[in-house]
Amino acid sequence: MPKLVVLVSGSGTNLQAIIDAFPTQVASVIADRDCYALTRANSAGIPAYLVDRKLHRHDLSQRINALIPDDCDLIVLAGFLSILDNQLIQRFPQKIINIHPSLLPRHGGAGMWGIKVHQAAINSGDNESGCTVHYVSEEIDGGAIIAQAKVAIAADDTAESLQQKVLAHEHKLLVAVISKLLGVN
Ligand code: GRF
Repeated sequence: MPKLVVLVSGSGTNLQAIIDAFPTQVASVIADRDCYALTRANSAGIPAYLVDRKLHRHDLSQRINALIPDDCDLIVLAGFLSILDNQLIQRFPQKIINIHPSLLPRHGGAGMWGIKVHQAAINSGDNESGCTVHYVSEEIDGGAIIAQAKVAIAADDTAESLQQKVLAHEHKLLVAVISKLLGVN
């Protein structure tokens, strides 16, 4: 049975989509702060761990690394905000994916997370945005793109309304990519 580990920092709606689609495959959830995603994991009876993001990047990565078993098939960063150093990336090459709420390479990179991404898309005058699932590399949001979903930006869209539209697509895209990579569902 394929084994998933999901890293989270926020409300966990992407985690919830994964749990709903793959109820028996999420081996554990790891958070870098106290967040509602941990409540979702607990409600689903999934082992959940909290690692303090105030640790130095190397120590944080080391703690997370120690929580992930060698037989893990896929690590999913689902709204995870800390930057991991390369020990995890080297240990699990091409097995760590991230979802970003824009059409990378546009509106990605250091500091581009949450509502700031959508505000940047609105400010840029783009007529579309969307979300991207990509492999995690040592370059923030720079890993190989696996799949994208596009969302039209309406003239009256705000960063908040765009965020909600994109988030709905994130859930579907992430589940579709995991299904393809694991060959399940
Ligand atoms: C999502 O917008 C995701 O793209 C970004 O952080 C947000 C997490 O949302 N990386 P949630 O915690 O999954 O609800």
